Amino acid sequence: MSKESRTLQAIKFDRQNVTLDILDQLVLPYSTTYISIKSIDDAYNAIKSMQVRGAPAIAIVGAFAIVVDIYNNLKSKDGNSSIGDLQTSLQHLLRSRPTAVNLANAINDIEQILCSYETSEVLNESIYKQIFDYATRLYDDDLANNHKIGENGLKYIVESLKQENFKGPFSIITICNTGSLATSGHGTALGIIRSTYAKLHKEVSGEDFFLDHVYPCETRPYNQGAKLTTYELDYEKIPFTLICDNMVSSLIQTLKNEKKDVHGKTSPVKFIIVGADRIVRNGDAANKIGTFQLATIAQYFNSAQDTKIKFIVAAPRTTIDLNTETGDEIKIEERPHKELTTLVGPVLNGSEVGDKITVGIATPGITVWNPAFDVTPHGLIDSIITEDPIAYVKDKNGNYNLT
Ligand code: MRU
Repeated sequence: MSKESRTLQAIKFDRQNVTLDILDQLVLPYSTTYISIKSIDDAYNAIKSMQVRGAPAIAIVGAFAIVVDIYNNLKSKDGNSSIGDLQTSLQHLLRSRPTAVNLANAINDIEQILCSYETSEVLNESIYKQIFDYATRLYDDDLANNHKIGENGLKYIVESLKQENFKGPFSIITICNTGSLATSGHGTALGIIRSTYAKLHKEVSGEDFFLDHVYPCETRPYNQGAKLTTYELDYEKIPFTLICDNMVSSLIQTLKNEKKDVHGKTSPVKFIIVGADRIVRNGDAANKIGTFQLATIAQYFNSAQDTKIKFIVAAPRTTIDLNTETGDEIKIEERPHKELTTLVGPVLNGSEVGDKITVGIATPGITVWNPAFDVTPHGLIDSIITEDPIAYVKDKNGNYNLT
């Protein structure tokens, strides 16, 4: 793909003409292709098949798709869908991805708008207008909040390093994709990395330390880190090196040894920053499978080797689920077996990108477990960064008690 055709805009909603197009994330980083979403059913399919993914982006696409669906229904000659029909479609949409709470929160808010009408009533302009306003606000707020998360994360990083009297270059590890492609723009965990690099890279940092390098984990089995986060970091010219999920302990160990380096880089890992799909009341956080092991690795190094690596969860408040008390109650989506036993991608011939093919990488017919997410216990999380000005940290009993 030529550099000019690259984009980080995952969601394009035309407020004038009420059309929705989403960047097909299944063909990134090799091609820029937008697909049109004309109905709630289209959104269900796009979310389920991962053409759009990432907790906030899923909710925004869902909400915009509801707007487009109602608009097309009102415009059509024989459009006479009722509130009850819409409620049935909303329940269907909700089943597309169960773990991320943002979509459930958005659908719940839209249900609240509908509940002052009879289910037999036909959809009308007033309902359309209220849902249009809700969806556009959801998008605008998400974008504004991501920038606040970025700033708040940067502040937390600066304070942590100062408190420790750390000096020199440092590195950050992240997992999955939590950037512009997973949100309305800027991102959450990757948004913090963006904001930190902008203010704290070597040439501009006014502090005694600077962000030198980022290590995105590949994020097996779906490879959101390898395909999407590297695409975003490369686009933004933030220096990074891709690693597999199972290289994290080795990486931290290597970088903390002054005599060793990773391709010339020696800056120690000071932060692991991850996103979230659902943060429950006690602070337990569901995120992409592999996140929990990053937190346990940080804990090992901090307790055995005094590395002081901070494990940060970054998410907008729309990811907080106050109706669920602990992580045990979170429903974890299990994805198809083929995502583990096959790899899908284009044939690469030099710089030529050919047709997409599927290759097998496991013994046919075997048993596979493919949970898409895991839950990091709050005890392993140093802080939860949201758009709220304060970073959430544990109380003296080690609890978050989010409100
Ligand atoms: O399965 P995905 O790609 O939707 O998983 C995404 C993640 O786990 C992200 O870390 C999370 O949704 C936060 S995105 C800002």
